[in-house]
Amino acid sequence: MCGIVGYIGSQPSAPILLDGLRRLEYRGYDSAGLAVQVPGAGIEIRRAVGKLRNLESALRERPLDGSVGIGHTRWATHGRPSEVNAHPHVAGPIALVHNGIIENHLELRRRLEGRGCAIASDTDTELVAHLIQLEVAQGKSLEDAVRGALAELQGAYAIAVLSEKEPERIVVAKHSSPLVVGLGEGESFCASDIPALLPYTRDMIFLEDGEVAVLERDRIRISKLDGTAVERAPRRIDWSPVMAEKAGYKHFMLKEIFEQPRAMEDTLRGRLDREARDIHGHEIGLSDDDARTVRRVVLLACGTSHHAAMTGRYHIEALARVPTVVELASEFRGRDGVVGEGDLVIAVSQSGETLDTLVAAKEAKAKGAKVLAIANVIGSAIPRMSDAVFYTHAGPEIGVASTKCFTTQLANILMFAIWLGRRRDTLSADRAGALVEALARLPHTMQDVLTGTRQLVANLARRYVDARDVLYLGRGLSFPIALEGALKLKEISYVHAEGYAAGEMKHGPIALIDSHVPVICLVPRDSHYDRSLSNLQEAKAREARVISVATEGDEAARTFSDDLIEVPDVPEELTPLLTVLPLQLYAYYVADYKGTDVDQPRNLAKTVTVE
Ligand code: M6R
Repeated sequence: MCGIVGYIGSQPSAPILLDGLRRLEYRGYDSAGLAVQVPGAGIEIRRAVGKLRNLESALRERPLDGSVGIGHTRWATHGRPSEVNAHPHVAGPIALVHNGIIENHLELRRRLEGRGCAIASDTDTELVAHLIQLEVAQGKSLEDAVRGALAELQGAYAIAVLSEKEPERIVVAKHSSPLVVGLGEGESFCASDIPALLPYTRDMIFLEDGEVAVLERDRIRISKLDGTAVERAPRRIDWSPVMAEKAGYKHFMLKEIFEQPRAMEDTLRGRLDREARDIHGHEIGLSDDDARTVRRVVLLACGTSHHAAMTGRYHIEALARVPTVVELASEFRGRDGVVGEGDLVIAVSQSGETLDTLVAAKEAKAKGAKVLAIANVIGSAIPRMSDAVFYTHAGPEIGVASTKCFTTQLANILMFAIWLGRRRDTLSADRAGALVEALARLPHTMQDVLTGTRQLVANLARRYVDARDVLYLGRGLSFPIALEGALKLKEISYVHAEGYAAGEMKHGPIALIDSHVPVICLVPRDSHYDRSLSNLQEAKAREARVISVATEGDEAARTFSDDLIEVPDVPEELTPLLTVLPLQLYAYYVADYKGTDVDQPRNLAKTVTVE
């Protein structure tokens, strides 16, 4: 986690670095800091605990002038959030920011202390600054000193380093943590993620593991750890800076919820073959032969992406008749599970950087499985290590709670299942055609649900804002949506919420129900409808406050519910794409009424690149 940013050019660096950090703050927000080469004064740093605004105040009191600098926003791993643990860390002429975890930090600390280094913080990062400083003290250039220090590190890092001895460059390097460099006119940049650089340049290069880059005003030189030069052309990123702004919404999350029709349109564009009643497969990157020979599908993901992956099991088994399992990447990795040739692993990840998903996918690939990534961030680590990539095109997602990336993942997974089913002759052209047509209408249908349910959901959130526990129930494709609704509420409003497979209630959880517990029942008219309605009635009979999400005009659901949220009638496969929308809004409004920090909830970070 953590966000790093760097700038070298002719403009004052501090405002650019702060702006970049503001766009990266979703990666961590325990503390923040800048280091700037101040002409005639060497490197100066400013650091502050808490949100970026504290650093901004510190800079107003004591500004930093200079056109070369690095910055950091922290999500604490080693050492509590405090000014001394905040980055940048300094050792002699060196200042350094770091995202990642150095695993051999205990041994390094012992060694450095033995060599007389005075280590001020509890962090693993400061040790790297000392290692570089020791190399520089032997007369090495900054670039060579960084290489020397990196050879001693185990773990994950993206670093940006300044040296007072070489004020005209920034040296950056990465292993297992993301780092992108940006090329401007007479200026160069680096950052953990694309949005930080969007207002300044769209020409970016994604560094690979084991690469070092030297940033100067008018050039960027990339090489491998052993010094071999790397030639890589920049990619032009077509995300606009406005996509990473709040655009008048109170929170990024609310903006991203309402952006879903647009995000869906972008994700579906060019992929629906309405004439052939099929999905255009060229972007999936697998051959028809791959589709026909796949023996089993294994979906790997974490958090919200895992809930999206769960729908893949229903779709792929139902439409393509391929045995499918879904695994939490964090449980799969290191387990030595049975996976190998003939298996298609689908790694689902918004950021494309989640460490557990990345490691799990790499393990499966090493055992002979083919890996398909479903990711949103172009050029991120999981797509890069995969055999094929099917991107969602949701644009940058800034709110920590994933919304538009979830629904676009659902769409990609469904499109993949249709594509697979057509190639395996398990899905008729008629059925595929009906799904393709419903997908083509989806952006409008989503817009109708968002505008049609917003006020009702806001009222319900107001009514139940003080509920201490909330249950979410669903069957079939609605089960992952129940889990997702509960996760959204937990992570931004800190209310205890649980999602259950509705049929499991009678095996225990029904004991939790009483008149104080709102129960949100997902009862769309699908193949589970009758049994879902029975579960709803069982909850009502135990005096629960029942809020149902049901198909428009469902009088039975209305009769048994205290409140009814209606969504349009669509083919069963598309219901999750609609029923999740009011659940996202519900979580948002409860959190907003409670006054929590919706976009940056406590203890969380957007991209989880730690164990
Ligand atoms: O970037 P990823 O999709 O791999 O992230 C996985 C989870 O960390 C993520 O979905 C997390 O659960 C979100 N905060 C959910 O809103």
